[in-house]
Amino acid sequence: MNITLEKIKYNELNNSLVFLYGNDVASRSLPFKKDELAYVEAKRKEDPNALVVLNRLPHKIYVQNFDSEMPNVEALEKLRKAAAHIQALLVEEITNRIYFTGEGIIPEEAVAFLEGFHMANYRFDKYKKKKEQLIEDIVVEQHILEPAVIDENLKLWRRIDTCRDWVNEPVIYLNAPKFADILAAEAKRVGNVKCTVLGQKKIESLGMGGLLAVNRGSDDEARFVVLEYKPENHINKQPVALVGKGIMYDTGGLNIKPDDHMVEMKSDMAGAATMASTLFAAAENHLPVHIMAFLPLTDNRPGRNAYAADDILRMYDGTTVEITNTDAEGRLILADAIAYADQQNPELIIDAATLTGAAVRALGTHVIAAMQQDAEKPFSLLGIVGEQVCERLAPLPFWKEYDELLKSDVADMINCNLHANAGTITAGRFLAHFAHHPYIHLDIAGVAYYGKREHHYGVGASGFGVRLLYAFFQTYEACQQANNQ
Ligand code: BES
Ligand code: ZN
Ligand code: ZN
Repeated sequence: MNITLEKIKYNELNNSLVFLYGNDVASRSLPFKKDELAYVEAKRKEDPNALVVLNRLPHKIYVQNFDSEMPNVEALEKLRKAAAHIQALLVEEITNRIYFTGEGIIPEEAVAFLEGFHMANYRFDKYKKKKEQLIEDIVVEQHILEPAVIDENLKLWRRIDTCRDWVNEPVIYLNAPKFADILAAEAKRVGNVKCTVLGQKKIESLGMGGLLAVNRGSDDEARFVVLEYKPENHINKQPVALVGKGIMYDTGGLNIKPDDHMVEMKSDMAGAATMASTLFAAAENHLPVHIMAFLPLTDNRPGRNAYAADDILRMYDGTTVEITNTDAEGRLILADAIAYADQQNPELIIDAATLTGAAVRALGTHVIAAMQQDAEKPFSLLGIVGEQVCERLAPLPFWKEYDELLKSDVADMINCNLHANAGTITAGRFLAHFAHHPYIHLDIAGVAYYGKREHHYGVGASGFGVRLLYAFFQTYEACQQANNQ
């Protein structure tokens, strides 16, 4: 989707117009006829959040009223959702171009609306013969927003689109080697991102026992991708390390997933897609932060020589792990990636992983299960930022006592707590063992992929988390100051 700033000529509209209408005094300058205005006013009195549609054949004017007195964060999320609703109506109109303007609104509100619209206007339709007509161009009234604001946000939103493309792409096309190739090509295209791809041999020589074990049942090789964005003006002394779970497909392995639990498991690399997308968005917008991403990539299959329960692995950092369930594979590849990232002496490690079904059961599908070790301040900042962009965190307890549940008789740890209590926390505790720097764990199993349409997040891959982490880096300077206090 493109956004252009223009002075809209309201008496020569040749496409539908979306009008965001924030407060009463604005009515003076509305480009409406008297009877239209009276209608809008009447509807607005009935419901300050109403959508009013004026039919000016062959076009329409969508007047989205909203209560500008509402608490800010809530109001912005309502606007994103309202935008998704209007986008759906416009798809029915079969048009590719619209106008957007507003009265009584601030730039933040216009951005939230356009953000919701852009996200709702995404489809994964490359395999469909009959594609829906989506909006290709939005002409925004020029006084509403600064070009630089549109430019920065469009770059972020397009990264969310690509993130969703990667997650939606099935494994038959997007396996680990292919994804690594795509990331390398993307880094080259962006220009200021360095990409190093470690191949199977290198992973073997490094002794990444977790990644290698999970990969054993697959016909495709594993990859370990390292991305680095280090601008000259970076404000952090040491990199922030982003680690993303890159299970290209999770069959469960020999502990194969039953019934309908396997479908949607192409999304098990959403953590890797989220982290790569955030790093690319930061690089494209030249944020002054040194960021690295560590992405272990493989699928988890029950093929010949697949790893099995009772196996004992030696991980990259030397820890031994007894396998109790091959479906708890994410933590094995992440453990190696976290230990590897840890060697870069990062000032903060954040991972994102579709790690546990328990997170979905405990918290539902609108919040990230979040845990931290020695990272209280950046964690609370991430929480605040999450409230602001409405991609929220649910902090879970992370006491060492939970480690009791991961004890093994024959190795240093088991990979899966067989009592199935506190599954999300024990998975996080398993990972925390491999981090010796401030560490934040984000279990995104509940939010990464939606089986049915969810407002601006759409259906399928949601891109949930990219806006959160991008906003975190936008405010990272403040985070650093808080750290130093
Ligand atoms: N990829 C799954 C977790 C998952 C489940 C993500 C549902 C999104 C939706 C993970 O690898 C997994 O299979 N976890 C097991 C862990 C269990 C064996 C301890 C689970 O949650 O059932
Ligand atoms: Zn699994
Ligand atoms: Zn998994």
